[in-house]
Amino acid sequence: MSHPLEQLRDDALREIDSAPNEQALEAARVKFLGKSGSISSWGEQMKSLSKEEKPIVGKLLNEVRTAVTNAIDARGETFRSQKETESLAKIDISLPGTPNERGSLHPLTQMLDRSIAIFRRMGFALADGPDVEDEWHCFDALNTPPDHPARNEADTFYLPDGRLLRTHTSTVQIRTMTAAPPPIRVIAPGAAYRRDEVDATHGAQFHQIEGLYVDRNVSVADLKGTMEYLMHELFGAETQVRFRPHYFPFTEPSLEIDVKSKALKGGEQWIEVCGSGMVHPAVFEQVNKARGDDAYDPNEWTGFAFGLGMDRLAMILFGVPDIRLFAQNDLRFLRQFA
Ligand code: PHE
Repeated sequence: MSHPLEQLRDDALREIDSAPNEQALEAARVKFLGKSGSISSWGEQMKSLSKEEKPIVGKLLNEVRTAVTNAIDARGETFRSQKETESLAKIDISLPGTPNERGSLHPLTQMLDRSIAIFRRMGFALADGPDVEDEWHCFDALNTPPDHPARNEADTFYLPDGRLLRTHTSTVQIRTMTAAPPPIRVIAPGAAYRRDEVDATHGAQFHQIEGLYVDRNVSVADLKGTMEYLMHELFGAETQVRFRPHYFPFTEPSLEIDVKSKALKGGEQWIEVCGSGMVHPAVFEQVNKARGDDAYDPNEWTGFAFGLGMDRLAMILFGVPDIRLFAQNDLRFLRQFA
């Protein structure tokens, strides 16, 4: 004859196995294993059993409880996996997916990357400096006198403490030379700021690549060769390059560089793309003074420098009619360069 506990177990297992859903299963769990469930109440009855019966019934009670617990867990698992299968069945795998949109580089970044790659092939290293500068790095060290119009408050953004937003990346020339002795061959890409009236060809912020090459016997011929190579790489081998005398306080002689190329406006007109020149001896003297040595002795070292306008180059190369488009973040514009 089977023990009433065994009878209870068989009833419980039958009920669990035939539970049609999770609610019925939970009801069965409460009925058998809950605080006042029928298996739990057997625990109470144990107290009244004799010494001989206690261990036998106790062991049986444990087995029954384990069997019922396992059965409830197994049935619960069945419900859970059924649910998962059902929800997966609702997904129509024949529908087209949602594509991830691919980003692309900003046209100015593309122009910068392209120019930097060309300079790297010529052995130029990258140099950097802060956008917020002091007057000395931006003007005095670059032989620009206090009454020069570029220093005017109408042309330059000054901070209350007297510092300013650099008006050109030529500041990095000075920072590079005060930090290390010659020879130097660097380019410094970065933003520059001028208090210009904003219109189709002027922004308050624009981007330049400044270049500086200082060594023994550097001449205008080196400057011309370097810039011609750059322009041919950027605009095509048939590009014509013209050097025009100009004036910058920090170079002597100073040259402006124009190009004419089929790739640009049909090759019909000369387009100014760059300021350049041979580093003025006064700049070397200022650097020496700041360094406290004679590392840049103008009798021993010469150099050339140049400043390219990236926005301008991108505008003429990509045929962009308005410089403001670069900063407006309009996807209809930006997508054209993807
Ligand atoms: N700093 C000049 C400008 O911003 C460009 C330049 C750089 C000219 C280096 C000569 C040498 O217009």
